[in-house]
Amino acid sequence: MRSQATALRSKDLLGIEQLTPEEISLILDTAEGFREVSERPIKKVPTLRGQLVINLFMEASTRTRVSFEIAEKRLSADTLNFSASGSSVEKGETLIDTAENLMAMQPDMIVIRHKHPGSPKMLADLLPASIINAGDGAHEHPTQALLDAFTIRERLGRLSGVNVSIIGDIAHSRVVRSNIHLLTKMKANVTLASPPTLMPAEIEKMGVRVVHSLDEALEGADVVMMLRIQLERQSKMTFPSLREYFNTFGLTPERLRRANGGAIVMHPGPMNRGVEISSDVADGPCSVILDQVTNGVAVRMAVLYLLAGGHLQES
Ligand code: CP
Repeated sequence: MRSQATALRSKDLLGIEQLTPEEISLILDTAEGFREVSERPIKKVPTLRGQLVINLFMEASTRTRVSFEIAEKRLSADTLNFSASGSSVEKGETLIDTAENLMAMQPDMIVIRHKHPGSPKMLADLLPASIINAGDGAHEHPTQALLDAFTIRERLGRLSGVNVSIIGDIAHSRVVRSNIHLLTKMKANVTLASPPTLMPAEIEKMGVRVVHSLDEALEGADVVMMLRIQLERQSKMTFPSLREYFNTFGLTPERLRRANGGAIVMHPGPMNRGVEISSDVADGPCSVILDQVTNGVAVRMAVLYLLAGGHLQES
């Protein structure tokens, strides 16, 4: 689907759940236009000159934080990076007080990552700035799903009718929730696979197929998306050992042969090599894992641009 929308309806990007298929296509089409900026000798356009974006990361991040900062700089925005460590959050200041104090310095947008689901929505209801969800607990990670979709569309030419198998820790993943919303809205076929202890009850109601074997998930897949076991979100191990997990759900070149010819392998990162994926696959010819990271910059440029109102200054 190519975009028919010309603007986003909301001032915020809180999740994929709130987007229409036309808005998703608009973001992906806009990102295609921005991809070229990163290939220029001078990787910068004046689009967001004079705008202040605060990156409020209250949880660890490598890819998302760096990618947003690069996207903001490529659009000529003024950027400020705020992390809980070293701030008055360590003295007990609440998220709302922190955000209201940052708002008093008049940012135009706030990118937030937080361990509590719903934190971005709380700020969006309170503050006039545009709020972008960079991951809230196990709820949503919308820009990850958008960059995943961009990468699938780039490699396979479409989203509609593509068979996407998502394998791993479904229960604790915000990436999977955003991807299910996006891929089902765009008419892709989604299969989920994990040990039963890592599969949320009744997730089939989101319009996906659930299987409990890696081989079954790989059969007929065009896209194999592997997810990390999120040990930090589990109070106890929900499977016997990491070695046993790799033996049953770890992706190896031999097992990948069950997927369709030309299938691509994705992972949002960070990877646990030797747990959900072998290095031979992660670094192999089917892997598009680093393309996902590259595409994240263009997709985040598109999101920032569209939330700013889509008023492009001439480069
Ligand atoms: N994919 C992703 O969100 O990675 P980071 O946690 O490093 O940002």
